[in-house]
Amino acid sequence: MNTQPHLLDQKSAVDAYPVVEEVSSLLKRPAEDLDASVPIAERAALRAAVSDLNARSAAGDPAAFYGQQLLLSRIYGLSTQLPEGPTAEGSTLVHEILRLLELATAAAEDASVEPGVLDAAPTEPTAYLSWLKKLAREHRVYKHPYYRDFIRNQATVEDLQHYVIQESVVDGRFDDLLAMMQVGTSDGAKMEIAENFWDEMGNGDPSQVHTHLFNQIFQVFDISAQDLERSLTANALLSGNLAVLLCRYRYLYPEAVGFLGMTEWLAPERFVHVVHAWERLGLPDVGIVYHKLHITIDSRHAAGWFHNVVVPAATSERMRRAIARGTLWRLNSSARYLDERMPDLATLRPV
Ligand SMILES: [Fe+2]
Ligand SMILES: [Fe+2]
Repeated sequence: MNTQPHLLDQKSAVDAYPVVEEVSSLLKRPAEDLDASVPIAERAALRAAVSDLNARSAAGDPAAFYGQQLLLSRIYGLSTQLPEGPTAEGSTLVHEILRLLELATAAAEDASVEPGVLDAAPTEPTAYLSWLKKLAREHRVYKHPYYRDFIRNQATVEDLQHYVIQESVVDGRFDDLLAMMQVGTSDGAKMEIAENFWDEMGNGDPSQVHTHLFNQIFQVFDISAQDLERSLTANALLSGNLAVLLCRYRYLYPEAVGFLGMTEWLAPERFVHVVHAWERLGLPDVGIVYHKLHITIDSRHAAGWFHNVVVPAATSERMRRAIARGTLWRLNSSARYLDERMPDLATLRPV
């Protein structure tokens, strides 16, 4: 079974919303030149076009959703990748557009959170943590059939290749996400993030750096950076964008705590099935080192994270609500993404 045919034709999605390429074409211009040269009327027209893209995405247009997330991921590239030449990173125009995209993306996630669910959180931090885990265990994304059945028993080499591409938006830069989210933390939380980060760095051994191990998969599947972007679905782009959004803003720190903690917690069980599929298909060992390692290491990371980052942070109503919000963003967005990979289920179970 191939999981790709139901996905939308992404090229025509971009053609339907020319603002995506219009803004993208500005991103390699020096920020000051760009801001000085675009007239006020043109700025307003770009903002209006992006607002229209957001409104159509919110109304359920898959092409607009794809365009929105593709553009957001490209703008995030300015602050997550070292450039080879000038970029518009500091441009006020780009920031205005970025903010429109971010707020619309956040509003869409909040709309997926069941009303009242955040009100049910216990106030005592340990009881709160148990509640948070229960929320995840009872969520349909937990032990999703995409991993338990499809990846484990049915996925072809092509399916696995496609799967790995989609995962690259988070796993391929988990160290940078940790680095961004730890700014301003202190005490036990900073120490836990630092320990987690040092594991990401292979505890000082360059050959064991996790992003390096992850990228070894691409030695097995020969994929160029351009193919990579083209192959990413809207929901995969969204996963990466949500991670960057929550990790780069200080006011969203508690949401990042929930989002990344849940990412660590869900990984081990999922990766058991990926390793099983890899071995079933007889693929080279070099490509699966990352997943094998994370079956054990992410259980430890999740436990340390819950204990040393979540519990100490869960001391106020505001923090508890925000951690749970980030947790639900992760659970809900992951569920939509996995459903998309299993179209027969997507029609049976609403988000
Ligand atoms: Fe890792
Ligand atoms: Fe981890």
